[in-house]
Amino acid sequence: MKHINQATSIQLLQLARQAADNAYAPYSKFKVGAALLTDNGKYFTGCNVENASYGLTLCAERNAIANMVANGHKKFVALAIHAREGTKCYPCGACRQWLYEFGKDADIIVENDSLEPIVTSTIELLPNAFGPENL
Ligand code: THU
Repeated sequence: MKHINQATSIQLLQLARQAADNAYAPYSKFKVGAALLTDNGKYFTGCNVENASYGLTLCAERNAIANMVANGHKKFVALAIHAREGTKCYPCGACRQWLYEFGKDADIIVENDSLEPIVTSTIELLPNAFGPENL
């Protein structure tokens, strides 16, 4: 991990697990929580929020990032994702683009209930990205 130590990654995973408890996922039953750390040491969380009009569903990662921005921060250095059941939840395509916008250099940690986290990064998940620097 580039930006955080083991203790901080455990803290992020614990926050992501708690956030997954609040997921609203009555349709997929796939509960996801995300937690991030900003470049100035603040933590923010998010969960997935589904909708009866399925396509309007908001993923946990984008919820956490929107929460960060709503609280006045623009950059995160690490983000953890916990999926309550089933497979690990690697970020979807839309979330990868959001990760890049606000955390292009970030460490990304992914785990499911097996609690065996995998460490990756935004750049690894979205190589050759199109981002703010292109405009
Ligand atoms: N989901 C996330 O929260 N993050 C992702 O990166 C992929 C998918 C959620 C959306 C939906 O509520 C459920 O997982 C199944 O797609």
